[in-house]
Order: sequence, then C-alpha cells, then structure tokens
Amino acid sequence: MSTLLEKKQNWRWWFLLPLYPYERRRTLVRELIPNQVWSFEQLQGLLYVAVPIRMTVIRLSKGLMLYCPITPTIEVVEGLAILEKQYGPVITLVLPTASGLEHKVSLPALSRAFPNAQIWVCPGQWSFPLQLPLRWVGIASKRTRILMKDNTPHNNEIDWYSLGPLDLGVGRFQEICCFHKASGTLLLTDSLVGISSKPPEIFDLDPTPLLFHGREYGDELLMDSYEVRKKGWARMVLFASYLRPELLEIRSFTQVVLHSLRSGLRHPHIHFGLYPFAWQANWCEIIDTIMADEIPKLQVAPVLERLVFPRARNIFLDWLDQLQKINNLVMLVPAHYHAPIPCCSSDIAELRDQITKRVWATDKESWSFLASLDRTLFKLGALPSYSAE
Ligand SMILES: [Fe+2]
Repeated sequence: MSTLLEKKQNWRWWFLLPLYPYERRRTLVRELIPNQVWSFEQLQGLLYVAVPIRMTVIRLSKGLMLYCPITPTIEVVEGLAILEKQYGPVITLVLPTASGLEHKVSLPALSRAFPNAQIWVCPGQWSFPLQLPLRWVGIASKRTRILMKDNTPHNNEIDWYSLGPLDLGVGRFQEICCFHKASGTLLLTDSLVGISSKPPEIFDLDPTPLLFHGREYGDELLMDSYEVRKKGWARMVLFASYLRPELLEIRSFTQVVLHSLRSGLRHPHIHFGLYPFAWQANWCEIIDTIMADEIPKLQVAPVLERLVFPRARNIFLDWLDQLQKINNLVMLVPAHYHAPIPCCSSDIAELRDQITKRVWATDKESWSFLASLDRTLFKLGALPSYSAE
C-alpha cells in the first residue's frame, strides 16, 4: 500500500518518456535566494545514470514565473501553492528549449495545472518523426506565445538572450536564457553546467543510483557511505557527460551473468545484479577535468560541445559575448547538475577566453565516443556542416 507521500510523488504519465525514476518522482524544493528564487529538482536518467533536472521559480512584481518545466506531481503543485500564497499566482510558464525533450515533455501537464498562466516557448519547437502543431502535443495554443518572435515577457524585470538557432538536420537547437535583474540570476537550460564532486542533495531522498555505480563488481551488494556516494556520483557524471568515458571497459556477458548469480541481488531495485561496467584502476584521474571540490566547475556541457556545436564554436562565443556584458550578474542557475553557481561577468569572460585557447570539440580521450557519433551522423547527412572555423 502506498503512503500519502508516494501518492504525491507518483506520476502516472511516466511512460510518455520512460526515464528513471519512472512513476516515482521525488522533488527537492530549495530557496536559492530568499524571497526571490527557488529550485524545484527531480532526478532523470537512464539505467541509474541520473542527474538532477530543475525548474526554477522567479518572483516577479505581479506573481511567479516558472522556467523549464518539470513533472508536475501533486508534491510539486502543492509546493508551488505555498509560494503562490505568499508571493502571488503563477503567471508565466517558460519552455526555453527547442530540442530538450526532457523539458518539453512536462509542459502540457504543467500548463494544465496553471490554466491562467501565459505560456512562452522557444521558437522552432519540433517533434519527430512528424512535425505536429503545438496544440496536438497538448500545449494550449490560445495562451501560448513564441519567445523573440512575439516579443518576450516581463521585459522591465528580465533580459532575454538566445543561444542559436542551429539547424540539427532533424530539427533545431535553440536555448533562450534569461537574466532576472532583481536577484542577479541568469537562468540557463542545457548549455552551461556547474559540477561539484559533492553529490547533489536530491540523492539524499534516494541514493540508489549513487550506490549502484559506486561498486566495482556486479556481485557486490549496495553499501552506503559518503565515499561510495561520491564515487558513484563521479562515475555518473562521466557517463552523462561523455556517454562512454575513457578508462571504462564493458565486462563480458558471461562475467556479468556469473556476478548476478549471488544471492540477494535478484531484485529490480538493483537491476537483478546486472552490472556490466569495469573501471580501470586510475579512472578517477579524469574527474578533475569535469568537477571541482568546492564551487561547482563551470563548463560547456560536453555533449552539446561535441554533438551540437562542433562546427559552430563562433555562435557559442557570440552568445558568451552577450552574457559577459550583463551588469550585476551574481549567479547562474542551469536546469541540470548543481545550482546556484556563483558567477560574475569576469567568470563568463574567463570561460570565453579558455574556449578560444583550447581545442574545441576534440576527438581525444573521453571525447572519442562522442566524436565517433558526430562523425557518423555527419556522414549520414544528419548534421549540417556550417562554415569552417
Ligand atoms: Fe536538459
């Protein structure tokens, strides 16, 4: 029998995008800036490679704006109701990405939960394999506006910036970020992330993915300690960033099955003991490139750099140019990984400078799998070439 909390976290439409944690969507609510900015976080992933996905709530003079939808469970709607009582109604919903399916999928349900809110979506929304009108995918067309094309909302309180558009062949990449002037907060979606070696707080609600990946062999039971959580987190970040990082080997089918025969492992909670990964002894040498111990390490999301922008670095640099001119920038809040990330315009300038000086979208080391994917898609004509840089 499920508890009241389980009912509030249940999401019966999980099969529309069957990602971990499936029907049980726990939500962590945090106040990032007192009385101004809040984070609603859930987990999302495949095969226990899970990272936080975040909706950010901004307090405006006339009510609340929700940026980047997440699954609107009862727990989420109740959490927002508490904020509405204090700060006014939800007046604006923003879907800031054209391609991020994990963000798009929650918009129809979220918009039904707030029938009086105006909806703003990134231009170039696309569906695959058929291009369907917005109303066919459950987005109310009468109260929906297109960012940039139909103006932008709350311009006296928020500045808007566009990364892209880029033609991806099957559709468009574009991300609209926004700067909330009162709090000095820049809201982002997928392009920039900040990663710390400390596992995100949301895993305290259920650390299973960390413990699953914190093992060496499939016949080990899940044991909980801070060190195991930290190890599991670092490995999940490497998976999520590079899909198949270097210093990782895949065990033989026979080995995987033999390890799974140990008693106590045949449970769906631990994938019936099936654990095919073998990390080389020196695997942790590569984590310093992607995460820091104290302040989250600010970086371009590797998957975007290698699969979306490999031949379009200048578009990315132009966008950073705009961001580094923002006055009074205090922090970044991306839709994934850690937040908030303390950040001022000189940090953006430094990031931009680093990008101009290093090799962009390299084929080496952990990037090799992403590079092979890019080459395959490019050869198939599924990716545009853009001008050579
Ligand atoms: Fe995303």
